[in-house]
Amino acid sequence: MAIHIGENNVFLLNTKNCSYSFSVDQEGLLRHLYWGSRIDAIEDFKNEPYVWEQGFHPIYDVKREECSSFGTMRFKETSFKVTFADGVRDFRYRYIGHTIDKDELTVILEDTVYPLQMSLHYKVYEEVDIIEKRRTVKNGGSDVVTVERLHSGECSLPGAGWNLKNFNGMWNSDFDAYEQKITGGKTVLESLRGATGHVANPSFVLHQNAGETYGEVYYGALAWSGNFKIVLEQTPYEYLNILAGMGDTDFEWRLTGGTTLETPALYLGYSPDGFDRMSNSMGEFARKYVMPEPMAAKPLSVLYNSWEATYFDVNEQAQLQLIEKAAQVGVELFVMDDGWFGQRKDDHAGLGDWQVNTVKFPNGLAPLTQKLKSCGMHFGLWIEPEMVNQSSELYRAHPDWVYHYASRPVMEGRYQYMLDLTRQDVQDYIIGEIDRLLTENDISYIKWDMNRGISEVASAMLDRSEFKSIWYRHTKGFYHIIQSLRALHPEVEWEACASGGGRVDYGAMPYFDEFWPSDNTDPLDRLSIQEGYSYLYPIKYMRAWVTDSGSNGKRAMPLLFRLHCSMCGALGIGLNLNESTEEDTELLKKYVTLYKEVRPIIQFGQLHRLASLQADGLQAVQYENGEDSVLFAFLDHPSRWRTTFTIRPRGLDANTSYRVEIEGQQQQKYSGAFLMNSGLRIILNHDYASCMVRLLPDR
Ligand code: GLA
Repeated sequence: MAIHIGENNVFLLNTKNCSYSFSVDQEGLLRHLYWGSRIDAIEDFKNEPYVWEQGFHPIYDVKREECSSFGTMRFKETSFKVTFADGVRDFRYRYIGHTIDKDELTVILEDTVYPLQMSLHYKVYEEVDIIEKRRTVKNGGSDVVTVERLHSGECSLPGAGWNLKNFNGMWNSDFDAYEQKITGGKTVLESLRGATGHVANPSFVLHQNAGETYGEVYYGALAWSGNFKIVLEQTPYEYLNILAGMGDTDFEWRLTGGTTLETPALYLGYSPDGFDRMSNSMGEFARKYVMPEPMAAKPLSVLYNSWEATYFDVNEQAQLQLIEKAAQVGVELFVMDDGWFGQRKDDHAGLGDWQVNTVKFPNGLAPLTQKLKSCGMHFGLWIEPEMVNQSSELYRAHPDWVYHYASRPVMEGRYQYMLDLTRQDVQDYIIGEIDRLLTENDISYIKWDMNRGISEVASAMLDRSEFKSIWYRHTKGFYHIIQSLRALHPEVEWEACASGGGRVDYGAMPYFDEFWPSDNTDPLDRLSIQEGYSYLYPIKYMRAWVTDSGSNGKRAMPLLFRLHCSMCGALGIGLNLNESTEEDTELLKKYVTLYKEVRPIIQFGQLHRLASLQADGLQAVQYENGEDSVLFAFLDHPSRWRTTFTIRPRGLDANTSYRVEIEGQQQQKYSGAFLMNSGLRIILNHDYASCMVRLLPDR
């Protein structure tokens, strides 16, 4: 059993390796007691009353809480902020009860004066060590209550000196993992773009001194693709308070009588031994509980994407040629990226007009889809449905369909405006247009892009008192559109892209089958981007293309290095195949075949980050399924004659003998114990050297 309630109103939630505990104290307030390694003895959690000595320490700041509210002698960051109709701006609650439904606990709180209830929902995912938190607020009265902040969850860790891992980023520099020590005050991770964005990810990883295979790690990920805020406050009272939820910087929700407001989920996880376990628990959790069917259990195809090969210059002839080449190397899914619709010649025009450009494709898409069918391949298209260019039929017909202030010009981002997704007519238009496209053409895959943030957050259809709710409504509108399209076309596969990895989050995951983690396809940059991504997001969702090198700001690198790098995720090809040499085509063919053989291990296996270029001078990653392993190792430049490296694979059976196949070397045999402890010697002796290794039980 995962949920326990002890005497003294102590609640204990247990997963395989972890416990989470809180209590109702003598005032009826929820106090956070514990989050960490599993403790079964519920009686050990004492619910001792706090005595407020009316001294200098505000009692509620001293307490570790499960639900704090602004304005109630709390001077720390709080997880709820509300204004009642009479101007009262605090929520003084008492616990009034709870319900349990299988692995879900709901704790109900109610204001002592006003008919406002908050429910805290906890769902326990026992075998993956995840506890989900969510909140709903219900206005049981008739006056409007204005909610100004409602976090998904609050908890805390004792002591000080916590290290935070998150990701810095911008376009082309996604998932740059960093660590910082939280000393005093608040550390805030936030997006104000209306989408997840690149600047920070809606997640946190906290530890004292953990490494890949040792040390306790506490982590969380928000299931939300809009503005978010994570506040980590090191209080003077020897604990780190953690709050995470929808962004509150420009948020207001008018909660009318009888209505509820629900937060997105916050997934909290605990690893007793390092980041490796954290990543693999999250991977398993994602596969079992978050990824949508039917793709969750299927490996992703090897795709071709036209973007870097032709940019906007797509046309029937060139795409047909590419299809032929893609078929030769074993591609399974051919995706035509930007440029195929409306008056799209560059990024100045066409968004919103989702009809095939008849100059570029005088015969529609049929010549491409027929050709693909004859080659046994599927077809995919790029769209950016939340956007419109000023130069488009759509904008000329509906200038009021974009977010705008009546008195100001609308600001452009990549020459485009953001459609007002709070409007039913706009949602219906997008659903109708994409549905038509998918119904009229043989399309198996859509890449859904989003290349600007929201500004002028106002809608022609909403009263001005609702404008601060637009951020929330936009994200809900986005979910509604993709959910409706998935229901209409359940066989179509969807990729989430937002100028690369600007929408990688657990809120988008139930609606998408994969992520495009970055527009940067330079393999060396990509190795660190992939490493950063892999901490909390599954490899199965990580698209990786092999592209041309030595131009567009990318370093020239051997094709083999580029291939190995992309094989570390869901392999794609973005090369201009019309210009590939015969030798390159042969190499591509060989490695696409090999990838298809090993991809179940890569996409569904356990991931082990064995070495990192920045810290160890070489990059090494291992994927294993409990039997077979695939490893990739990469070196940028040999330094000081160091060309031999030892890497120690993980997850092998100590007593099994393994056939070790290092590319270009003679097969050898070693025991699992030897490989895991003494290690595997790899020679990488030139610039941009890489190799693939397979470890196969010798039975
Ligand atoms: C964004 C995407 C790219 C590509 C272009 C097309 O930048 O991230 O992958 O699709 O748009 O305009």
